[in-house]
Formats: sequence, C-alpha cells, structure tokens
Amino acid sequence: MVFNFNRLSGGSLPPTVCLSAWLVLGLTEDETFIAIAVSNIQQLLITGATGGVGQLAVAYALKQGYQVRASTRNIAKARPLFDDRVELKQIDLRQPDTLTPSLDGIDAVLCCSGTTAFPSDKWQVDLPSQPFEQLLTWSRIFLDADYRQRHTKNSPAIADDQGVKNLIAAAKNSSVSRFVMVSSLGIDRKDQFPFNLLNAYGVLDAKQAAEQALRDSELTYTIVRPGRLIDGPYTSYDLNTLLKASTDGKQGIVLGRGDQLLGQTSRKDVAAACVECLQNATTEKTTFEIINQGERPVNIAWPKLFTEMAQAG
Ligand SMILES: NC(=O)c1ccc[n+]([C@@H]2O[C@H](COP(=O)([O-])OP(=O)(O)OC[C@H]3O[C@@H](n4cnc5c(N)ncnc54)[C@H](OP(=O)(O)O)[C@@H]3O)[C@@H](O)[C@H]2O)c1
Repeated sequence: MVFNFNRLSGGSLPPTVCLSAWLVLGLTEDETFIAIAVSNIQQLLITGATGGVGQLAVAYALKQGYQVRASTRNIAKARPLFDDRVELKQIDLRQPDTLTPSLDGIDAVLCCSGTTAFPSDKWQVDLPSQPFEQLLTWSRIFLDADYRQRHTKNSPAIADDQGVKNLIAAAKNSSVSRFVMVSSLGIDRKDQFPFNLLNAYGVLDAKQAAEQALRDSELTYTIVRPGRLIDGPYTSYDLNTLLKASTDGKQGIVLGRGDQLLGQTSRKDVAAACVECLQNATTEKTTFEIINQGERPVNIAWPKLFTEMAQAG
C-alpha cells in the first residue's frame, strides 16, 4: 500500500511536503510520482454500497482514509450498516436528475451497483396480488422477452446498462476525475459456455454497453471484471449464496487482461481492487479481470499485481 499523505491530511498538504514525505520514507521516484499524481482523490461516491462488494468497498475505503458518500435507494435500510461513518445519499441510477447533485465534491466513483443476472424480485416485477396469477406472471417473465421488458423496472438493461450510463453522463459534468466500474468476466466471450448461460437474460450485454460508454467518455476509468462472486456478504441470489461458498481467505489473486481467465472471485478482493486502483496509475484507462487462484501470500502487494498485469500486456 502507498500511503497518501495529502488524502490523510484532508488535502491540506502541498505537493512539495508530500514529496519530502515520500523521500523520507525512501519511496522510489516512480512510486512518488504515482502517489502525487493521484493524491487529490479524497472523496468517493460508492454506488451499490449496501450490496456485497459495495459494503466491503466502503469498509476498505474508510480504512484507507477516504471520505465516503454511500449510495442507496433506501436510506433507512442502509443506515444500520454504516453507523455515522459515511455520508448516506439516496440515489437511484434510473433517475438522472438526482445524480448530478449527488456527485457534488466527489473525486472518484466506485460503481458497485447492479441487479441479478436472472429474473428475481430485485428486478422489481409488477406482480398481481393473487398467488396463481403471480406464478403466471413469473412464468411469462422468464419465457417472454417482450412481456419481461414491459413488466420489470430494474432489469440488467435498466440498472446495469442505462442506469450506469446515466451515472457516467452525470460524472462527466462534475468534479469526478476517476471512475471505477465493477463489470464481469465473460463480456468478450458471451457466446461461449458458461457465459452464454449467464447472459440468457442480458446481464453481459448490459455490462458491455456500460463498459463501452465508460471507455467512450472522457473520464479516467478502470473496469474491474470479477468471476462469479464468492464469500460474504451473501447478498445476491445464486448458487454460491445458497451454498455460502467461501475461499476461506486462502486463495491468491490473479489479474488478467483480454477476458481469458475463468474462476470465482472473493467479494473482498473485488472491493480491495476497486479502491487500490485509485492509487495506481497503471490501472488508468484499463480493463482487467480478477479471480482467486493458488496460494494466498501473507500480504497482497497490489502495486506489484497491477504492474505485472500491465507488463503482461
Ligand atoms: N453475483 C455475481 O456472481 C457477480 C459476478 C460478476 C459481477 N458481478 C457484479 O458485481 C457487482 C456487485 O455484486 P454484489 O453481489 O455485491 O451486488 P448486490 O449485493 O446485489 O448489490 C447491488 C446493489 O446495487 C444497488 N442497486 C440496484 N439497483 C439500483 C438502482 N437502480 N439504482 C441504484 N442502486 C441500485 C442496490 O442498493 P440499494 O438497494 O441500497 O439501492 C444493491 O445493494 C454488481 O455490479 C454485479 O453485477 C456479480
């Protein structure tokens, strides 16, 4: 980890003082350059902050000395998660008008929000009151694409595609200088097993469209693509959640580019990667995959992981 004196001091230290601090600590010229170059990032907006990755990203960011604005559609639900350690902001990515004021003073966005890959109540389905009619509705949601589009309010096309595009558009007209987005493995292999199954209801199409919008924006971005999420908090509806699948904290981290990795990813490592990106210039304008594999070292050396990934091309 590279300490960021400017952030820890609340942004009050001039670069020359920071530079002296790096020199006293014996950091290399490159590390000094990277640290100073990104040292003005202090205030983060984390979307999906109540979700599995989001909660861990909030915790990791606070531990690193960032100030966090945590986004949720339901402040009452979110408040017990964070005590008073974050500024809670009611944000719905489907409502573009609410986004610009929410980004006021924000230096970096970590976009950890999303809906489920397969139809679930997180898609906000218009349901009739009678149980039998509800069953029919769910059947049609699964089987009939037109019906699904008309009767769901938070599908991947809405939350992961249009919602994230709304956030990108608002960020472009704000103080935001850095945008980190959690996407998914398999975007470039949507037609191959198992990603063709995962994309049956368009989640990879939606993530791909949002990724492209981010690359096309003038924002300095990083796109983080995890495999199937493992370890708690178990917030999504899938087999790993049912099984409470866990790495037991024993697996190492593998980063890759070009969408060639296959595997699962601990939520805590996705969260850490998102925050660590902010202090590492090699991740700027970069898309990378992250999975857990092999033996875990005692300490995770993020700068080394990022440098090796960049060198591998
Ligand atoms: N599950 C997997 O295996 C997997 C694999 C690869 C990538 N991913 C991606 O990894 C990310 C994190 O996954 P996770 O399991 O940690 O997510 P999660 O627990 O399902 O949390 C997602 C959060 O998104 C927020 N959200 C949903 N719709 C929203 C909207 N319209 N506007 C604003 N916020 C909205 C919700 O917050 P509020 O309800 O508080 O508003 C929710 O807490 C997601 O982008 C997901 O697509 C997941």
